[in-house]
Amino acid sequence: MKTRLGVNVDHVATLRQLRGTVYPSLIEAVQLAEAGGADQITAHLREDRRHIQDQDVRDLRKNVKVAFNLEMAVTPEMVRFACRIRPDWVCLVPEKRRELTTEGGLDIAKNKRAVALAIQTLKKKGIKVSCFIEPSSDAVALSHHLGADAVEFHTGQYCLAAQSAFGGRSRSRRVQEKLRIQKAAIQALELGLHAHAGHGFDYKNIQDIVGLMRHSGQALIEEYNIGHAIICRSVLVGLETAVAEMSALISR
Ligand code: PXP
Repeated sequence: MKTRLGVNVDHVATLRQLRGTVYPSLIEAVQLAEAGGADQITAHLREDRRHIQDQDVRDLRKNVKVAFNLEMAVTPEMVRFACRIRPDWVCLVPEKRRELTTEGGLDIAKNKRAVALAIQTLKKKGIKVSCFIEPSSDAVALSHHLGADAVEFHTGQYCLAAQSAFGGRSRSRRVQEKLRIQKAAIQALELGLHAHAGHGFDYKNIQDIVGLMRHSGQALIEEYNIGHAIICRSVLVGLETAVAEMSALISR
């Protein structure tokens, strides 16, 4: 099965919101991403609406031709909104108002009841649900127990190590983080959970992960959701090419 690429379009909206303009068009961006080979369009409707707006989500639902994945916090308001919109997938994420971007995985153990209720409610509407978690055994087991269809591993720590953010310890940390993701992905596979990954990937660090994430000839990670690096690259080469380049890297 082909590994899928989800293109996160949040930062197209970030550029628009920066000046309060009507451009760049999110829908034109989606069409270019699809032409470049995106298998999914991902957007995060944050509580502070710093980039994607409610109307964007409605427009995406109408116009996205591939799968549409809505990232959102576990709140009753968001669950109600998603039930009206009916994206193909919802990815439940933690959210802090002050963070620059999502800083870690969802603490499911701490939010067990709310997560369980959100999963049940969304699934009743035919929406598939993934939980954005740290690649840990407990978080995988709990996601499975609560009925999630998939887990998305937060790969931020691996990506930071790949960018030498831990100084002299970066090399060993990188190996350690890769193994952590690999182990959690094998556990997910054994439990019958789909395994996705995202956060912090760029055109370099993705190559190492894609190569490693195979188990008995099978790709352990079925889907990568990537935003910032693709939108940054699109400034230089255009969005269709930026997506096509990333798509080629993940399907090798
Ligand atoms: N997956 C999830 C759940 C996220 O919250 C984000 C960031 O919005 C991404 C993937 C994409 O991360 P990046 O923009 O670093 O590629």
